[in-house]
Amino acid sequence: MNPIDPVAFRQFEHEGWQKVAARYNDSFASVTTQSIGPILDAGHAGTGTRVLDVACGPGYVTSAAAARGASAVGVDFSSEMVLEARRRYPGLEFMEGDAEALNLPDAAFDAVLFNFGMLHFARPERAISEAHRVLRPGGRVAFTVWAGPEKTLGFGIVLAAIQKYGDLNAAIPPGPPFFRFSTPAESEEFLRNAGFANPVVMEVPQTWKLSSADELFDVMYYASVRNAALLHAQKPEVLKSIRTAIRKDVERYANELPMPAMLYSAIS
Ligand SMILES: C[S@@+](CC[C@H](N)C(=O)[O-])C[C@H]1O[C@@H](n2cnc3c(N)ncnc32)[C@H](O)[C@@H]1O
Repeated sequence: MNPIDPVAFRQFEHEGWQKVAARYNDSFASVTTQSIGPILDAGHAGTGTRVLDVACGPGYVTSAAAARGASAVGVDFSSEMVLEARRRYPGLEFMEGDAEALNLPDAAFDAVLFNFGMLHFARPERAISEAHRVLRPGGRVAFTVWAGPEKTLGFGIVLAAIQKYGDLNAAIPPGPPFFRFSTPAESEEFLRNAGFANPVVMEVPQTWKLSSADELFDVMYYASVRNAALLHAQKPEVLKSIRTAIRKDVERYANELPMPAMLYSAIS
């Protein structure tokens, strides 16, 4: 495996999210929004709390926190995502910014939430340490990531098809392992190393209801970042077999795939 170049990986992720921002609501959002209630609960977001939604995408968590009476701000490094969020929730505050270097003061928030953000950062250690810096002592961090591919069948099916017909090692910009934080022990250590106490782990059951058996391939190919790059890196002659294998597997599940999240929270 090639060493990770964090600058190159960040640029790759940034370009990817800029491109797919407008499609996000019709691709992953029906699944990622299933974690909103649990992540707000884990962060104790409620009336009068100051909540930061990092890697906010189109702003769903920010909006749900505000609906609970929190004073919420969303931040994302993709200007296209920030535009989507402002268009969707015109009364709320969204800013462009990098999770790894937040342009925000120390101890300014009671809760910092990352809904499906941590697995996309080039340097997650920097992002978690920024969360610690902007939280008041006793504040809460919470983040969700996907459970491993053996449980999140939307990923498991795609990766198995690539493994069978294509090349899982096709050249894409190397980044931190996509499923690194799916392992509770790894995430607990990550939180403790950043100065957080009392980590709590939860698995959130989620289901991806696809409108057709081809939707999984289409979302991964046209509306994701790393998985899209992996699919685009396959030889054209095997891509058809990959697509067919994915469709058949999705049909076996009647177009409804388990997509559980791992939710971690801790106290600063
Ligand atoms: C899977 S989406 C999650 C969106 C939203 N939080 C949700 O719950 O659906 C990942 C988001 O992370 C953002 N992102 C990735 N790397 C980032 C970084 N270094 N700083 C800020 N945002 C980042 C992307 O632009 C994208 O909007």
